[in-house]
Amino acid sequence: MRAVTLPSYGDASVLVLADVPEPEAGPGEVLVDVVATAVNRADLLQRQGLYPPPPGASPYPGLECSGRVAALGEGVTGWAVGDEVCALLSGGGYAERVAVPAGQLLPVPSGVSLQEAAALPEVVCTVWSNVFLLARLQPGEVLLVHGGTSGIGTMAVQLAARHGARVLCTVGSPDKASRAVALGAERAVRYRDEDFVEVVREVAGGADVVLDSLGASYLGRNVQVLRTGGRLVVIGLMGGTRAELDLAALLSKRASVHGTSLRSRPAAEKAAIVAAVRADVWPGFERGELRPVVDRVLPLAEVAEAHRVLEGSGHVGKVVLSVSD
Ligand SMILES: NC(=O)c1ccc[n+]([C@@H]2O[C@H](COP(=O)([O-])OP(=O)(O)OC[C@H]3O[C@@H](n4cnc5c(N)ncnc54)[C@H](OP(=O)(O)O)[C@@H]3O)[C@@H](O)[C@H]2O)c1
Repeated sequence: MRAVTLPSYGDASVLVLADVPEPEAGPGEVLVDVVATAVNRADLLQRQGLYPPPPGASPYPGLECSGRVAALGEGVTGWAVGDEVCALLSGGGYAERVAVPAGQLLPVPSGVSLQEAAALPEVVCTVWSNVFLLARLQPGEVLLVHGGTSGIGTMAVQLAARHGARVLCTVGSPDKASRAVALGAERAVRYRDEDFVEVVREVAGGADVVLDSLGASYLGRNVQVLRTGGRLVVIGLMGGTRAELDLAALLSKRASVHGTSLRSRPAAEKAAIVAAVRADVWPGFERGELRPVVDRVLPLAEVAEAHRVLEGSGHVGKVVLSVSD
């Protein structure tokens, strides 16, 4: 089969489509014929040698895919050959076939195309596990999402607005601000021209939950913007890993700071998140209240261009790679 390999680390030109051995479905796994996969910012880090796959994971990039079940490993029930699925992966989505633990499969929601479904597992599972299962965002509370038009941001804005929360976000341009508002944000702060702490305090009196992908560069201001009892969840480190924090601010607000990574979680934890997503989020796609936000679809052969698009941050939502069909 063909897969995107990384013979060396570096810029997007190191991504090479090559013939590689076929994966096999081990016990409890399902083999999927991949129709599409999607690019996540983590793939850019893996390509640069900064985010190695966890032990046992496929060496090829790709944290999600959609496709059709090709074979079932020993002991798998509930799925049949030919089922249309999408899957949360620990790697290996940039390939014609991938083996995935059965607990990480989801059916393709009705009304969503097989290609669009590739854009869902990573962002939905990340947002659901962090904003809802961990930070327990409540209806009426205020969520601040950094990067409101990122893959993660477009899903966080939709999910929180549908939940009855007030959603504010940061974006890099006026165009992106309009897109975030159209998805359900009450206010999109243009972080290059405006101070998000000032705006969020003025509009909503602060944030109950902050979903942050900047890390160090926003730590102090993220704590400043929290209301009493606020929860800051750091899921990305685009702004660096080390920062100083005045703990007094946390104590007086009785606030908490969390850091999480989905990819490194054990399969059983991923399966629990996937099951919660299927029960609590998938009906929203089936009813048309939620939708995948796909910026563009490129063929797998143009994977380098897809990485450049994400690096340039000109996109809104997800960049999908079409693998077959
Ligand atoms: N921990 C986990 O389990 C987990 C899982 C999935 C993703 N993530 C993380 O979530 C983040 C988003 O991932 P993604 O795949 O959705 O990436 P993405 O689509 O490439 O989005 C990143 C966005 O960040 C925005 N941004 C850059 N600098 C900013 C700043 N100073 N303030 C506010 N926004 C800024 C950019 O938009 P503008 O043009 O608006 O600047 C860009 O579109 C990444 O850090 C990723 O590593 C973590």
